[in-house]
This record gives sequence, structure tokens and C-alpha cells, in this order.
Amino acid sequence: PRPGLILAVETSCDETSVAIVENGMIVRSNVVSSQVETHKRYGGVVPEIASRQHVESITLILEQAVEEAGVRLTDLSAVAVTQGPGLVGALLVGVVAAKTLASALRIPLIGVHHIAGHIYANALVHRLEYPFVALVVSGGHTELVEVTSPGVFRILGQTRDDAAGEAYDKVARAMGLPYPGGPHVDKLAGEAGEGIVLPRAWLEADSFDFSFSGLKSAVLAVLNQASMKGETIEPQRIAKGFQESVVEVLVEKAIRAAKARGARQLLLAGGVAANRGLRAALEERCGRERLPLLAPPLSLCTDNAAMIAAAAYLKWERGELSSLDLKAEPVLSL
Ligand code: KG4
Ligand code: ZN
Repeated sequence: PRPGLILAVETSCDETSVAIVENGMIVRSNVVSSQVETHKRYGGVVPEIASRQHVESITLILEQAVEEAGVRLTDLSAVAVTQGPGLVGALLVGVVAAKTLASALRIPLIGVHHIAGHIYANALVHRLEYPFVALVVSGGHTELVEVTSPGVFRILGQTRDDAAGEAYDKVARAMGLPYPGGPHVDKLAGEAGEGIVLPRAWLEADSFDFSFSGLKSAVLAVLNQASMKGETIEPQRIAKGFQESVVEVLVEKAIRAAKARGARQLLLAGGVAANRGLRAALEERCGRERLPLLAPPLSLCTDNAAMIAAAAYLKWERGELSSLDLKAEPVLSL
């Protein structure tokens, strides 16, 4: 076996992914099969369908990842898998596949928290310096996490209702845009002159928590009022107003958290990290604050198994292994 060669499986939502990563850094393969085309017609992820598609895809994706990596299964030193949080039926498919592989090869199994994966996607392309603060923004999560040393996490704040990506997707849906709506709203926002004015949810003065459901309702109210009056508002102006509100709160809280915790770096992670407005605003603010900003390339922002392998590598190094009775955990704290 080659020490530090980890095969990882990710099936927590609607991407079936298997990756092989060496030493937590060198991506030998990272195969991602997205189900987005299937779920599109329902306007969101349908859990039952997601599980079934994972079952159909997992073996093929596994074989493809091994072939692309050009390694033998007997070279692997561990099998990692997303244990949670996520859709329970979807998680189960990955957990069963990973357990089967680990027990057949007689190598360790490592359960990984999905958010740890998103954060450590950055380790595949950057040199991390502790302590750092990570802003994790995806379809299922909006969290500010302090990481004091490898694998030691502390949640500073999180959303009290919708995740940032979820808010994007809901607003997009109300505007008649296809699922997932985040990228469409982002694009429209970039085309607008001036956005409509929408509220910002700052919450308590010292809070690092977020809330996006009020903003979503405000957009719905604007759309309803306009349609009742028979008026039309340019979708670009709505998208821009919405994006400005989301981005301003995310950026201010992330910068404040990083300063308060003496962070040496600010990390961006999760699918919404692809947002151009968010990236531009963070780059500008971090530049002013002389705070290094790290973000993974787009392919590593959205769900993928390479990020799970990167987070698993830290656990492997420290001997934090899981037993073969590891369970899929739809709700799991970091
Ligand atoms: O990390 P991810 O692939 O899946 C989860 O773990 O949730 O994130 C997907 C989310 C979706 O809500 C999608 O609309 C959003 O990320 N997203 C964006 C952009 N690209 C993807 N949101 C805003 N702007 C974007 N450019
Ligand atoms: Zn994710």
C-alpha cells in the first residue's frame, strides 16, 4: 500500500462522487456525476429519486475513479466517506459502498463531516495557516467556522432559517428561473444598473448568525405587488438587490469574525462560493483588511469527493479512524 492514498465517496445530496487523493493534496481522480438534470423538472432535489440514482451510479463512478487515478485498489491506505449531514437515503448509499470496500480490502474506514470537506477543499490548492475562519455557503449550509488547528472546528455562527444557496434557489424559482437558480440570479445581478432596495438581516449586534427567509419573503412581496398592479420590474434589478443584501451581510460578518478571532486567513467554501458578487466583495474587503482570502476553484466549491478525501487525510494522519458500524447521520454536528 502507498501511505496516504485515500479513496473517498460523497453522496450526501444530488452528486455521486468518488475521488482518489494522495497525501491530502494530489488529486489523482475526482469523478462527479450530477443529478441536476433529473431534479430540474421538480424544481429541487427529490430525496427518493436522489437515493435511487446514487444506487444506479455508484459502482460505475467508483470504477471510473480508480481507472482515471491509475492505481490499484490494493494501493489504497484508507476509504473515506461523507457520514453526514445530508439526505439519509443518499448518504446510506455512499456509506454502504465505502464500508464494503474498506472491509474487502481490510483497510481503515474514515467518516467525514460534509462541512469539513467543503472547508478542506481549500487544502487541495492552498497552504492553510491556523487559526483561520471559514465561510461555508452552500445549498444546505451557511456557517462561519473557526478552525484553530487541523480538524478542530468551532461554529461561530450559522443560519437560523434558510441557507444562502437555498434562498438563492427559492428567489430564482419565484422569478421563474430554472433550478438551481443561484448561478442565474448571479448572472442577472451582474447585468443590472441599480438594484431594488431590500432589507438586511443583521440580527443582534454581536451575532455571527444569519437569516435569509425575511429577505426571500421581501422579494416575494415585491413580485406579488408588481403583478397585482400589472407592473413589471426588471428581473435584473430584483436579482441585484437580492444579491447585494445577501453579499453585504455575508461579507461583513465574515470579516468581523475573522478579526475577532485573530484569523490568519479567511477561507471561502461551498457552492455559493462560485458567486461573482460575493467573491468580488470579499476580495475587496480582505484586500483592505490585509487578510489573505482563500477560495477553491469552482470545480472544488460544489459537492465533490476530493474535498472529502482532503478532510479525511487529516484524520488518517492522526489515527482518527471509524469502525465498520459507522452510520449515516442526516443531522451531524461539526
Ligand atoms: O455546495 P453545493 O454544490 O451543494 C450543497 O452542499 O448544498 O451548493 C449548491 C448551491 C445551490 O443552492 C446553488 O444555487 C448555489 O450553490 N450556487 C450559487 C452559485 N453557484 C451555485 N449561488 C449563487 N451564485 C452562484 N454563482
Ligand atoms: Zn455541499
